[in-house]
Amino acid sequence: MEQTRGRFTGPPLTPRTAVIWSVLRAELDRRGDEELTVLDVGGGTGGFAVPLAQAGHRVTVVDASPDALAALTRRAADAGAGDRVHAVQGDGDALAGLVEPASVDLVLCHAVLEVVDDPAPVVASLAAALRPGGAASVLVAGRAAAVLGRAMNGHLTAAATLAADPCGSTGPRDTLRRRYDADTAAALLRAAGLAVEEIHGVRVLADLLPAAVADGQPAALLELERALAAQPPYRDLAAQLHLFARRPATPPDRPVRPRA
Ligand SMILES: C[S@@+](CC[C@H](N)C(=O)[O-])C[C@H]1O[C@@H](n2cnc3c(N)ncnc32)[C@H](O)[C@@H]1O
Repeated sequence: MEQTRGRFTGPPLTPRTAVIWSVLRAELDRRGDEELTVLDVGGGTGGFAVPLAQAGHRVTVVDASPDALAALTRRAADAGAGDRVHAVQGDGDALAGLVEPASVDLVLCHAVLEVVDDPAPVVASLAAALRPGGAASVLVAGRAAAVLGRAMNGHLTAAATLAADPCGSTGPRDTLRRRYDADTAAALLRAAGLAVEEIHGVRVLADLLPAAVADGQPAALLELERALAAQPPYRDLAAQLHLFARRPATPPDRPVRPRA
């Protein structure tokens, strides 16, 4: 793994991570040699946080789970990046008490908005933590893939419920509270004042293919995932949607009040 800032290559790529890393790498390249302040909300055991710290950035992971944070701390130490990873137990919708407002260059929130009680305050918290011009990497569960997945496995009632439910959930026994389409996910970020720059599908095909194909042709699968990731309708059928958004560098124009 490359450790020099500005020439970040990232960890080995898989269908779960390749598209996200390529978007993040473009942002890191854009920032050149700067040491970035990164915040990973619900960062879990550090699958993204630790490589970013290895690349020389300062990463704070806020997560509700002490067990995940303990695993993160071990992983960061094993990777030789323990001094650049700060683990904080806390809630994603109460970042103001944990992270200085407008202090973060890059915020990650991956696979979290579908499990929290209410996603809007979490996204508002992410946006408030970003400096003007800072970027957000948000990964959410896709609704269409879940509908197709249920149907293909013969669970037609669950598929119909999931398709019709306003939140994209099958109900209280569903492991996720909600799922998103590209439009609903983008609207959530825009409501918090973020400008959505890119939307990609993650795992368009990976979960649909027989294991023999996925395991037998990993390089071809990776290439096809990358080729389809940004293209509707393929993008919209992905198991997860990745949104890359930015806090505008200047606040939107205030309406000019006519003189009395
Ligand atoms: C599915 S895991 C995703 C972990 C990591 N972001 C990834 O993509 O591999 C969800 C994580 O969010 C954390 N989490 C759930 N609700 C949270 C909340 N309200 N505030 C902070 N973290 C939360 C969980 O403890 C867990 O580590």
